[in-house]
Amino acid sequence: MHLKSLLLLAGAQSVFAKCKCTPTDDCWPSVDSWNALNSTVNGKLAHNKPIARPCYHGPGYSAELCQSISSNWTSNVYQATFPIGYSYPLVESCPPVNATLAGYPQCDLGNYPVYTVKATTAADVAAGIKFANDHNVRLVIKNTGHDISQRSQGYGSLSIWIKSVKDGLHFHDRFVPSNGSCPSNWTGSAITVGGGYVWQDVYDFAGEHGVIAVGGADPTVGAIGGFMQGGGHGPASHFFGLAADQVLEYKVVLASGKLVTANACQYADLFTALRGGGGGTYGVVLSATIKAHPTRPVLGHSLDIVALNGNDAAVLEATGKIMSKLGALSDAGYSGTAILTPVSGPLVYTHPFLNLLENNSTEALESAKDAMNRLVLDDLLPQNGTSYLVLSSFATYPTFHAYYASQHHTTPGSNRPIMASRFFDKQTLESPKNNLTSLLETVTKETVPNSPLWATLFNIVTGGKVLQPAPHTSMNPAWRKAHLLFQQIDAWPENAGTEEIQLFRDELTNTKLKAMKDMAPGMGTYLNEADPYDPDWRQDWFGDRYNWLALVKKKYDPDNVFWCWRCVGNEGWEEVTGGAWFGPLCETR
Ligand SMILES: Cc1cc2nc3c(=O)[nH]c(=O)nc-3n(C[C@H](O)[C@H](O)[C@H](O)COP(=O)(O)OP(=O)(O)OC[C@H]3O[C@@H](n4cnc5c(N)ncnc54)[C@H](O)[C@@H]3O)c2cc1C
Ligand SMILES: *[C@@H]1O[C@H](CO)[C@@H](O)[C@H](O)[C@H]1NC(C)=O
Ligand SMILES: *[C@@H]1O[C@H](CO)[C@@H](O)[C@H](O)[C@H]1NC(C)=O
Ligand SMILES: *[C@@H]1O[C@H](CO)[C@@H](O)[C@H](O)[C@H]1NC(C)=O
Ligand SMILES: *[C@@H]1O[C@H](CO)[C@@H](O)[C@H](O)[C@H]1NC(C)=O
Ligand SMILES: *[C@@H]1O[C@H](CO)[C@@H](O)[C@H](O)[C@H]1NC(C)=O
Ligand SMILES: *[C@@H]1O[C@H](CO)[C@@H](O)[C@H](O)[C@H]1NC(C)=O
Ligand SMILES: *[C@@H]1O[C@H](CO)[C@@H](O)[C@H](O)[C@H]1NC(C)=O
Ligand SMILES: *[C@@H]1O[C@H](CO)[C@@H](O)[C@H](O)[C@H]1NC(C)=O
Ligand SMILES: *[C@@H]1O[C@H](CO)[C@@H](O)[C@H](O)[C@H]1NC(C)=O
Repeated sequence: MHLKSLLLLAGAQSVFAKCKCTPTDDCWPSVDSWNALNSTVNGKLAHNKPIARPCYHGPGYSAELCQSISSNWTSNVYQATFPIGYSYPLVESCPPVNATLAGYPQCDLGNYPVYTVKATTAADVAAGIKFANDHNVRLVIKNTGHDISQRSQGYGSLSIWIKSVKDGLHFHDRFVPSNGSCPSNWTGSAITVGGGYVWQDVYDFAGEHGVIAVGGADPTVGAIGGFMQGGGHGPASHFFGLAADQVLEYKVVLASGKLVTANACQYADLFTALRGGGGGTYGVVLSATIKAHPTRPVLGHSLDIVALNGNDAAVLEATGKIMSKLGALSDAGYSGTAILTPVSGPLVYTHPFLNLLENNSTEALESAKDAMNRLVLDDLLPQNGTSYLVLSSFATYPTFHAYYASQHHTTPGSNRPIMASRFFDKQTLESPKNNLTSLLETVTKETVPNSPLWATLFNIVTGGKVLQPAPHTSMNPAWRKAHLLFQQIDAWPENAGTEEIQLFRDELTNTKLKAMKDMAPGMGTYLNEADPYDPDWRQDWFGDRYNWLALVKKKYDPDNVFWCWRCVGNEGWEEVTGGAWFGPLCETR
């Protein structure tokens, strides 16, 4: 690798079978070629400039614009409005300058696409694919740019941005497959999400129709892109299965440019790969029809445990005890994400959990409350007011929509976090052999002193219906035995330099993720919320489905036009970085 990089720097790209053309190569398409593509897509081609360019001296500098960019920078919604806006980039090559000047004194496009097709139709998508193929240019598919393993990025690439595809949201009282003859087992209603909508859009639409759609906890995530294709969990997944489990039909543009309908009867292998096998690699999805479930009343429970008198250790121990009960809580119908974090000072455990009740009966309500009291609160009360403060409250809501609307969904201001995660089954959580408090101690340990920008997440978004395998799905089989998706998020200080950032990454992978794996061997994790530097990512993210998925990838994209880092079927190509963070994509055999 080192030798190859040196040779590459000397201009000897020929050591690889082939490299994609980049803007510094002679083979990069001419301005005329780009203009021709622009005409084909009716003027919807953008030549990208770094968003924070106005912060840097030179042409386009504007202190005023820079101020507005800086103040909006950590908003996921703001980032998603740009063709090259990314929520959690692993490499930031043009930050708003005052924020992190120390680490990156320059501004360039870095790992981001050079051109973007702001597609509105299948024809635009096909034109982008054809152009990339004809001119040997790297291609990426982008929706919101929320991906945390930079799968919607690519150095020197052309991007197909699906955000502007807006063919509407459509409600069906009963699902009828596009090719009428395909029998469906689903007798309920359905929603077609016809383009680059986010979950907030779909939730509002579902609420109007009195149904529940299985989407993200965060309303800003895109519906039909990496989220759904990679699994997709949220407040309703425990009750109905993952987002990928809900898909009845996809419309997809293939690498060949052909628009097809994939369902259980036609393109069934592609349909299956797109239900859990990850985004970005099999084709470009333009719409998805998903199951809609009749709404139900909700019991919400919120709990805060706040350390008193600096007694963080007591909160850690209380959290360890709760963690051991999460499998049982999940079995009792609770769902949601609990957070342990010291961000505002004392260590705090907090959860907004929900219980989707079968009906409005007192019996259903009381049995749910009983479970929470018995499993969690009874243990906490003896130390209330001494070690920590316990605040607990129940509330009922007539519908899922009313519950969701009552919650705050502010994802904490992005500080360029990194994360590692692991599935835990119920047995592992409950085994007296496992010291969960000790695990929490390991994962919450600050990488450098006084770096309290961390959060531990306990996602009980699995269990329940997620435990039942569904036909034509391809997500990591570990989902089907998990009761908890355990997740550690760390963030380095804003002024951290390259070496310090590396220290944070290494500590996360080598110590924290390792501790999770040691306690839950053979489980793996969720590919969309994982440590991108996990050396065992293929096994950990896909389990034994990887090889099958790679065959489907090869069948539908034989020339590897859809290549992404940490995606199925990316063998045989690598980004040649020569010691930098990014570089051209080259074929290695
Ligand atoms: C703030 C935030 C909150 C989150 N909350 C949740 C959550 O509650 N539950 C959960 O499960 N996950 C959550 N995630 C993780 C989320 O599932 C991933 O980030 C996911 O990749 C986002 O998909 P996207 O299409 O919006 O993002 P993008 O970065 O645009 O795309 C992600 C991947 O999908 C591909 N892709 C995008 N669109 C298409 C398409 N139309 N066809 C084919 N491939 C496509 C891209 O090439 C890339 O590989 C969250 C992430 C963030 C940043
Ligand atoms: C494409 O065409 C539109 C409309 O004419 C123009 O605004 C845009 O700048 C062009 N894009 C590029 C990359 O030249
Ligand atoms: C950056 O710092 C300079 C000097 O401190 C200041 O004048 C300027 O307003 C800052 N810009 C932003 C966008 O914060
Ligand atoms: C960005 O933030 C400023 C406040 O500093 C606000 O006035 C402006 O509307 C925001 N812009 C966008 C596009 O969100
Ligand atoms: C489905 O319909 C499309 C076009 O409407 C047709 O080309 C295709 O052959 C049909 N597939 C099946 C399995 O009937
Ligand atoms: C319907 O259910 C049967 C039996 O579980 C299964 O074999 C079949 O694949 C299902 N059909 C669809 C379209 O999912
Ligand atoms: C309400 O739901 C509970 C399960 O939570 C069930 O046992 C009970 O029979 C239901 N009651 C009515 C009236 O449907
Ligand atoms: C814990 O104690 C505080 C104050 O002493 C009280 O307000 C709160 O209701 C108690 N919590 C519970 C769950 O009883
Ligand atoms: C449950 O009761 C509430 C009022 O208490 C009512 O608004 C709601 O429609 C009821 N839900 C169901 C499913 O009966
Ligand atoms: C579990 O680990 C914690 C923290 O290291 C420790 O205080 C406790 O004694 C351990 N418990 C058992 C049962 O070993």
